[in-house]
Amino acid sequence: MKKLFIETLGCAMNMRDSEHMIAELNREESYELTHSLGEADLILINTCSVREKPVAKLFSEIGVFAKSKKEGAKIGVCGCTASHLGEEIIKRAPVVDFVLGARNVSKINEVIGKKHAVEISIEFDESAYAFADYRTNPFRSMVNISIGCDKQCTFCIVPATRGDEISIPSELIVQEIHKSVAQGAREVMLLGQNVNNYGRRFSASQESCDFTQLLQKISEIEGLERIRFTSPHPLHMDDRFLEEFASNRKICKQIHIPLQSGSSRVLQEMKRGYTKEWFLNRCAKVRALAPEAVISTDIIVGFPGESDADFEETMDVLEKVRFEQLFSFKYSPRPQTAAAEYSDQIDSEAASLRLARLQARHTEILDEIMDAQAGRVHSVFFDELKDNGRCAGRSDDGKLVFVEGSEELLGTIKRVRITKSSRSALDGVVLEG
Ligand code: 5AD
Ligand code: SF4
Repeated sequence: MKKLFIETLGCAMNMRDSEHMIAELNREESYELTHSLGEADLILINTCSVREKPVAKLFSEIGVFAKSKKEGAKIGVCGCTASHLGEEIIKRAPVVDFVLGARNVSKINEVIGKKHAVEISIEFDESAYAFADYRTNPFRSMVNISIGCDKQCTFCIVPATRGDEISIPSELIVQEIHKSVAQGAREVMLLGQNVNNYGRRFSASQESCDFTQLLQKISEIEGLERIRFTSPHPLHMDDRFLEEFASNRKICKQIHIPLQSGSSRVLQEMKRGYTKEWFLNRCAKVRALAPEAVISTDIIVGFPGESDADFEETMDVLEKVRFEQLFSFKYSPRPQTAAAEYSDQIDSEAASLRLARLQARHTEILDEIMDAQAGRVHSVFFDELKDNGRCAGRSDDGKLVFVEGSEELLGTIKRVRITKSSRSALDGVVLEG
């Protein structure tokens, strides 16, 4: 059997793309996954290009991989940086055998046999492609509901790497979830760059279906207990969607609402389409309808032209919403994006100071949230066995929970009383009955 080493960077969509590539490869030939570079017959790097740093690291990594690989092993660069740099990757690193874009993963078996093949078209439509089956975690499935992104956020490279947004037909989504449930999954994570824009465009005619209707259809699937999704866009969070989120028992009460900036002026420069007030209003609506819901977010600091006063607006939203999880980044100018051309780029040191302040305050908030967890009861879906006799799972609101336990807990949902908390996880005991 051939051996495959695959490194996956970036977001959940990339994780699912890696699963799709593993599945497609196994259609033609059996591959076993390996963590050892020296053993691999095929090395895949599934890249992310959302910020500059990982892109800069790619070429040094290719160098390391080339030195460690065994004679004759192939190296493929896939994902968003593949889409973005294309041929240039092979020019700069001829040791790379092929380049496969984020929107072309179904072509893995085509490129693997062609020396220096480059397949990166962002027009290619994989929205109705029937991928073969492979899941990293049998209890929890990831299912794409759309590809690409139609937004033109001025900081973001994704429309250039993943192309226009096309929704996947709802029957295919439902079919795929049925299949994963039959194989043991009880939870699904619905994936898209902008999930609540679902249904705006399909590649073939299909009955109209928006995200709220899709959630309703999916929640009818018997045996499926939990539905998660990432990421919704604050602009498309209408009341109907939030009411469904709050009232549908199967939808986990955890929602990622990417803020990006708390300043309405900066949001306008980012072309996000909403204001600080709208964002706060949506979070307040979530809290009013589902007080137990956890809200997480993404924030960029140091966007071109961000003043001290703009940054204070971001700090103000942090105080008001008290996000449980915060993914925060220093603005990174990206090629093919409008903001990279703005003349008022921010000094990197100043941006670092803002980032440090934001993160420090968030850590305090997080500590307060986690400290209050002891004694609470969560319903936890166990899906991973640890080496030290412990079992790990996620609470409905997305917290990582550990208990003493073995295989029999896997795939089950149990009530757990929390005994101890840290910043990133909880310890607890399973309650009987
Ligand atoms: N610079 C910094 N962060 C970015 N993100 C997207 N583009 C950039 C950029 N150019 C962040 C956003 C997005 C997350 C996935 O990455 O916060 O929501
Ligand atoms: Fe990275 Fe964005 Fe591509 Fe995901 S879609 S891999 S976050 S650039």
